[in-house]
This record gives sequence, C-alpha cells and structure tokens, in this order.
Amino acid sequence: MTGMDSTASPISRVVAVTGAGTGIGRATARAFADEGAHVVAIGRRAAQLGETASGYDRITPLVTDITAEGGPDRIIRTVIEAHGRLDVLVNNAGIVRGGALGDLTREMITDQVATNLVAPALLAQAALPALETSSGVIVNVSTSVGQRAWPGSSVYAATKTALELLTRSWAVELAPRGIRVAAVAPGAIDTPIGEHQGLTPERMAQVRAWQLAHTPLGRIGRPEEVAWAITQLAAPAASFVTGVVLPVDGGAVVA
Ligand SMILES: NC(=O)c1ccc[n+]([C@@H]2O[C@H](COP(=O)([O-])OP(=O)(O)OC[C@H]3O[C@@H](n4cnc5c(N)ncnc54)[C@H](OP(=O)(O)O)[C@@H]3O)[C@@H](O)[C@H]2O)c1
Repeated sequence: MTGMDSTASPISRVVAVTGAGTGIGRATARAFADEGAHVVAIGRRAAQLGETASGYDRITPLVTDITAEGGPDRIIRTVIEAHGRLDVLVNNAGIVRGGALGDLTREMITDQVATNLVAPALLAQAALPALETSSGVIVNVSTSVGQRAWPGSSVYAATKTALELLTRSWAVELAPRGIRVAAVAPGAIDTPIGEHQGLTPERMAQVRAWQLAHTPLGRIGRPEEVAWAITQLAAPAASFVTGVVLPVDGGAVVA
C-alpha cells in the first residue's frame, strides 16, 4: 500500500482553557469542543466546570487553582498525561479587585498580579515543550484598556497591559520555535465578572450604563463573540498571525 490512508481521521487538537467554569472561558471551551478539539477546562469550582462540560464529552474539567505553588507545572503535566499533547493554551482566568490608590491593600494587588500575570506566565512557560512539538498557540485574554487610564481599577488594568506586552514579547521570542502568541482584548461582555468582583446590583447597573455609553455598537457583548475571536486566532489558518492584541469590544477602544 502506498500513501496515507485517506479515511484516517485527523488528530484532534488539545486545548487548555483557564477560567472555563463561567463566562468567556466557558464559551471558549465549548467553541473549541464544537470544532472537535479535546478541551481541558480549568477552574477552582467543580460545579461550574461540570456545567461547562455538561453535554460536551470532549470537555474534561480540571479543578485546580492556577495560582497555587507548583500549580502551572501540575496543570500542564496533567494535560499531557491525559491527552499526550497540547496545541492551544488559553490564559483566560482573571480577577478584578477594584480600588483607587489610597484604598489598595497588599492582598488586592498581589491577588490580581498572581492570577492575571504570574499564573499565565508560568503556564505558558510550562507549556513550551508541548507547544513546540505541536507548533502550538498561546492566546491571552486581556481587556479593552488600550492607552486609557482606568481610575478605580488601575492595578487590574496594569496587569492586563502587562499581559499584552508579554504577548508581543513572547511572540518574538517564540517565533523561531514555531509557537504563535496572540491576545484578545474584550470590552463589556455579559459574564458574572462583576458578581465575582463583589459589585452590588446597583453598582453593576452604573457600570453597565457607563459601558453602554462608551461602546459604539451600543450593546454589551456575548461571551461567544469573544470565544469566536479566540478560536480564530488559534486556528491553523491564522498561521501568519502572531503578536497581535485583537479588541473584541464593540469599538470601545477606538471611540
Ligand atoms: N466580562 C468582561 O466584560 C471582560 C472584559 C474584559 C476582559 N475580561 C477578561 O476575560 C476573562 C474572563 O472573564 P469573565 O468575564 O468570563 O469573568 P468570570 O466569569 O469571572 O471568569 C473568570 C474565571 O476565572 C476563574 N478563576 C479565577 N481565579 C482563578 C484561579 N486562581 N484559578 C483557576 N481559575 C480561576 C473563575 O472561576 P473560579 O472562581 O471557579 O476559579 C472564573 O470562572 C478575564 O481574564 C477577564 O479579565 C472580561
């Protein structure tokens, strides 16, 4: 027999998504699974991850804290042991602890830096050998901050602008190894992030009103709209795209 067996099914990609129990991470895990990928859905709460995986036999929950000592290495090891490869790492998990200078505590600063910056960096580093083998992709989830000030959430915004700089820097560092790195910068998206931040419904309504007034498309985005952008940046057809930060914000950053 000569040539390849044309009936052989292509190898499924393996995708790790952090913060996959809710919001953008859940939509992203499902979008990759819909494309035929095996997805490891990472988060701290089993119930939320179980809901993400419900009805999706290609999504495997992994209940863990990405900020735990040794956590990133353990996570990547678990993915490789389960699936033998890793094609896409989506650094989506993130937290917001609002507070203006004068009201900040050490914990507010270190928690955000640990979750939004340290863990993505250590996860990306742990994933390098596997991503090099698969010519893989890292997609980081930033926020639509651009060059603007973000009074009241300066530390959150700082972690995300730093994540964007890491995205550009890693894209250049890793290009010779065949690994692409990109980011999305979502605007106002309908997820429980405000609830997780501890905002009251009244404060959340004020935030939404401000967001609507500053979003040219005049509405709040859906998690699936961000998930779509993440899958596109990670797609094999995006093979010449690296180092970019793609706003998915209804035009907010250019308004
Ligand atoms: N929604 C928006 O308007 C918006 C706008 C711009 C950017 N973003 C960014 O989008 C990303 C997703 O946010 P979202 O809006 O979907 O909010 P979300 O629903 O609060 O999602 C964040 C997820 O991260 C997980 N997480 C937090 N800390 C973790 C840790 N230490 N280890 C493992 N998982 C952890 C949370 O689950 P557990 O608590 O169960 O671990 C949660 O499922 C974040 O990076 C956020 O900054 C969101």
